[in-house]
Amino acid sequence: MKKEKRLITSALTYVNNIPHVGHIVGCHLPADIFARFCRSYGYDTTYVGGSDMHGTPSLMTAQELGLPVEVLTEELHKIHKKIYEKLGISYDIYSNTHTKTHEEITDNFFKTLYENGYINEGETEMYYCEKDKMFLPDRYVVGTCPHCGFTGASGDQCEKCDSLLSPTDLVDARCKICGEKAKLKKSKHIFLILSKGTDKLSKWVEEKKDIFRPHVYAEAKKWIQEGLKDRCISRDIKWGFPVPLEGYKDKVFYVWFDAPIGYISITKELSEQKYKDLWCDKTAKIYNFVGKDNIQFHTVFFPTMLLENGKYNLPYNVVGLNFLNYEGQKFSKSKKIGVFCNALLNDDDKIDIDTLRAYLTTIIPENRDTDYKWEDYKNNTNSELVGKFGNLFNRSLNMLKSYFNSVNDFDPESEYEKNALDLEIIDAIKTMPQKIADAFDKAELRDAYKLIMNYAVIGNGYVEKSAPWALMKAEKQEEAKKVLCLALNLCASLCICASPIIPNKTQKLWAEQLGLGGDVTSPNMWEKASEYNIKKGHKIGTITPIFERIDDEKLANFKEIMSQPFDIKDFFSTKKVNVTKKLKNKSHF
Ligand code: 2FM
Ligand code: ZN
Repeated sequence: MKKEKRLITSALTYVNNIPHVGHIVGCHLPADIFARFCRSYGYDTTYVGGSDMHGTPSLMTAQELGLPVEVLTEELHKIHKKIYEKLGISYDIYSNTHTKTHEEITDNFFKTLYENGYINEGETEMYYCEKDKMFLPDRYVVGTCPHCGFTGASGDQCEKCDSLLSPTDLVDARCKICGEKAKLKKSKHIFLILSKGTDKLSKWVEEKKDIFRPHVYAEAKKWIQEGLKDRCISRDIKWGFPVPLEGYKDKVFYVWFDAPIGYISITKELSEQKYKDLWCDKTAKIYNFVGKDNIQFHTVFFPTMLLENGKYNLPYNVVGLNFLNYEGQKFSKSKKIGVFCNALLNDDDKIDIDTLRAYLTTIIPENRDTDYKWEDYKNNTNSELVGKFGNLFNRSLNMLKSYFNSVNDFDPESEYEKNALDLEIIDAIKTMPQKIADAFDKAELRDAYKLIMNYAVIGNGYVEKSAPWALMKAEKQEEAKKVLCLALNLCASLCICASPIIPNKTQKLWAEQLGLGGDVTSPNMWEKASEYNIKKGHKIGTITPIFERIDDEKLANFKEIMSQPFDIKDFFSTKKVNVTKKLKNKSHF
């Protein structure tokens, strides 16, 4: 095992709905592939994730559905967990931010900031509803958009003209719940003095110039250059952790204050040792995988909190991704545009997870926004997975079966005369795994996938040009044995290299078809990727085609299954009775 300790995190997703493919591609899948690679390569790897339980979106959804917010978030948390499991996202722990451990760490974090002089007290003016007796979060204020005149604009954005708004921009501001006129009212709040940490933050961001992707570095720089302003970290709502400070106990922490601390508390939930090793030992490397709209929080806001607190490690890399579109348009639940994950909740095998993971890998928005296209999904499956990858295994295994009774009778380590083609494939087995590892290690997952497919092409080229069928005809059996032995060794190596992306298929191929047994995804496997795993005397297992071609009919079926948006109202209306019963026995946690 390599010594380096790595903590990998996926952004903690809000639980006001279920995830769609954009969330998967823009965070969970890349983090998972990277974590799987790190384990395989021998890093001491921990991968954590969880649900971001607090915040206004969940509270609003709960109110709209007439459900207690605790119940809504807990149920949706379970659904998120199930979907990620189904997709093979290999969290070492998937928890959430509404736990005792999380509250304790958040309180302590805050107290340290307060004692160190990084918290200011102040006042803000906010809309208030006299009838509902509450301050109204931005999205609870509705009114007329000052730009386009749309009368249903919300306090943060106008849905019609897409302008970003603040509630005071609205003409005729009203309470979204009851429709009454909203009034401005003063309220006391606490503020994090971000500017105090500017020098340290700038220095840290500069150190990351060659580690962050250019768009991530540029965004951090932009925020710093614009000047960091004090940030209000309390809210007048009834969902979240109470602020542990005299005079503020009826307020809760702003969701973005406690959410990133979730990475720390969830690691601690996993084990005390992991918490110390990964957060307090300076040699550990933390990788945060985050969606486009989370970049500023992970490169400016949270790092400043960490620097000012002083107790914990900062991220080594913030792997910021971009957005995924759908057939050239934005994902939209209301317009039913997109690929949704509800079908993954059914316990059937209608969805081939690895085929989906492989296609999604080709569209990870690493450096720019990308597009989900059903036609590309079909092409990737048919030409790459079936045509290149599957074909190599299928033909090599089948020839060994029919020519040599499934037994490899050639010793790849023996002294033998090598022709130019042999030298080429031997060189590929020696060098390609490291090239692929280098791409994975930089989280350049699309490049890693391309290299994996190139590796399969090298294998196919070798079989094609060496033509074992012709060698058999010419009664050059020894030659044919050698060709199949080298081809199958490349296949074994390919299984290890592709396992972070298509873990289920490679496991089947490795254990059952190549007959190598064990777990291809186990830690440190990468060490074997440039070795000869198929030795003299090895017998292969049972062969079945590993990837299926997709025709237009299958594609249409799949599209139909995956395009159904999740109806949250419907889902909870059938659950309501259970849910209310459950609540009676509930305390704060
Ligand atoms: O955008 C989101 O879904 C946020 N809940 C992400 C939080 S990431 C982390 F800080 F917890
Ligand atoms: Zn009201």
